[in-house]
Amino acid sequence: MGDWLIFAAMNQMIQKAASIKEAIDQFQSEGPDPAEEFRIRFLGTKGTIKALMAEMKQVAPEDRRQMGQLLNELKLQAEQKYAQLNSAPKAEVHTSGEALDITLPGEALPLGSRHPISLVRNRIVSIFQRLGFAVAEGPEIEDDWHNFTALNLPEHHPARDMQDTFYVSEDPAWMLRTHTSSVQVREMEKGKLPIRIVCPGRVYRNETISARAHCFFHQVEGLYIAEEVSFADLKQTLYFFVQEMFGAEIKVRFRPSYFPFTEPSAEMDITCLICGGKGCNVCKHTGWVEILGCGMVHPRVLENCGIDSSRYSGFAFGMGIERITMLKYQIRDLRLFSENDVRFLKQFAGAL
Ligand code: PHE
Repeated sequence: MGDWLIFAAMNQMIQKAASIKEAIDQFQSEGPDPAEEFRIRFLGTKGTIKALMAEMKQVAPEDRRQMGQLLNELKLQAEQKYAQLNSAPKAEVHTSGEALDITLPGEALPLGSRHPISLVRNRIVSIFQRLGFAVAEGPEIEDDWHNFTALNLPEHHPARDMQDTFYVSEDPAWMLRTHTSSVQVREMEKGKLPIRIVCPGRVYRNETISARAHCFFHQVEGLYIAEEVSFADLKQTLYFFVQEMFGAEIKVRFRPSYFPFTEPSAEMDITCLICGGKGCNVCKHTGWVEILGCGMVHPRVLENCGIDSSRYSGFAFGMGIERITMLKYQIRDLRLFSENDVRFLKQFAGAL
């Protein structure tokens, strides 16, 4: 390499260094991360300063010191600028220049509350738990035996009609349970006596949806089987329940009724909470509203489940949670429970 060429290389490098220096001074970025953009362009392994350093070998040995110094200064200048860019606050992309006021209070997250049906179910269950009842649960898709046959429901019984039961179309031996009495059968079949259980859960009936009926609703049924259980035990247990649920002033009455799985059977009414017993639309001007069905477990049901009916007796009862909730909170339309209207639901925050 002749002197002239070496001189030319040196000259070219000095010019390049000058233009890099200018580019550093004038660097401006519109991008989201100017510091990183700067680093890549000037200081990175493929950056302009590294590229210029690679040209050092073309410089005459006696000039290298001077050239090296020049490049070091350039590098130092770039590093300073990089540090400066790095410490500058990053632009808030979404606020497009607007300042972010970090002292503003945060957005309050709405707090959920329990569904009224859950609240009342828990309340019902806890009242019976205090009397020594345990909670038992079972499947919502049931077979014919547990939902009907074991419970002494003869084939012509209206509850078996395709009209009010949802059967599984591929195999009608399977259905959506119409009551949680099926859970009681499952417990009796286990053969561990005495039994004292409540069975909360969702049940299904093929009903036309209205203010008073739905194709699904919730029940708590109860069963007590031991030696010498009497109708007096049944009455006292249910009387305790309504007083705990609705207050000590509440009155009850039992009316004779019919269920295939209990004998004798009764329905229990309480004084209408809307009119206080004077008579209104809700109680159909009788002053009473029905809240549950009950009775002494039919001996045939005990035998179906392998229990000796000459030794054991028991009582059973079943109530709709929707009905109890409507009475407790004076709700007149059952559909409100499944419409998910937050205005309705949030009224129960902190209830019970
Ligand atoms: N299983 C009955 C129903 O769903 C309620 C009931 C339970 C009645 C136990 C009497 C005894 O309607």
